[in-house]
Amino acid sequence: MSRKKIVAGNWKMNKSLQEAKALVEQITNQINDSIAIGIDEVTKIIIPPFPYLDAINTQILNKPNFNVGAQNCHTNAAGAFTGEVSASMLSSVGCKYVLVGHSERRQYFKEKDSDFVLKIKEALNNNIHPIFCIGETIDQRKTENHFKVITEQLTNVLKEFTVAEFSKFILAYEPVWAIGTGETATAAQAQEMHAFIRSIVTDLYDSKIANDVSILYGGSCNAQNAQELFSCPDVDGGLIGGASLKADDFCKIILSF
Ligand code: 13P
Repeated sequence: MSRKKIVAGNWKMNKSLQEAKALVEQITNQINDSIAIGIDEVTKIIIPPFPYLDAINTQILNKPNFNVGAQNCHTNAAGAFTGEVSASMLSSVGCKYVLVGHSERRQYFKEKDSDFVLKIKEALNNNIHPIFCIGETIDQRKTENHFKVITEQLTNVLKEFTVAEFSKFILAYEPVWAIGTGETATAAQAQEMHAFIRSIVTDLYDSKIANDVSILYGGSCNAQNAQELFSCPDVDGGLIGGASLKADDFCKIILSF
């Protein structure tokens, strides 16, 4: 099994450039002070708004296992798409990861499976790892449709990718009812769904690739609950929203393995 431990901070639409740089400075300093206990093994991904990617990438160069990721990319490689950002642009500013399928993109921007396939293809063409996000709504869980929804979200997209392409993926399970609500999936709920996701990946590809893919939990993961969540055998880290905006909390989460 070669899967990585990962903590990614999705800043969403928050912070000025000055605040962003100060936050990264605090995070890298705190992690540097803790390096003796081996947390350089944890892949740390900062996912700021687009305008800060270049500056933050410069800031984290030579910091142990720190990377930048983007919150989105366009479905096309280039052209007349005013206001959009391509995967090759992200690559040119040192971006190694991109979020695809986040529930906020699904809900507010009406993005759908066919968009995710094109975005992931663009990311892979530019050596960027997609962090593909899936998750059910509260209604879907209450009506016990959550496994069906997750199966569909995964299958509709993964069926378009070969095993070699999928080996570049990170998956993130983000139950929509836990995002920004302060409500977290219990460790048992997270483990149950992560193991289920791994079983779907086994069905679609094979058990080796399923064992190797990192599956992150997202949805009010914070400094208090990260340790319990990360102790689950199929939870390989977190995709953190609100708590990634505070250096102390984000660093505590990184130290929670
Ligand atoms: P919160 O941690 O703020 O719930 O956000 C989770 C998320 O959407 C990360 O992508």
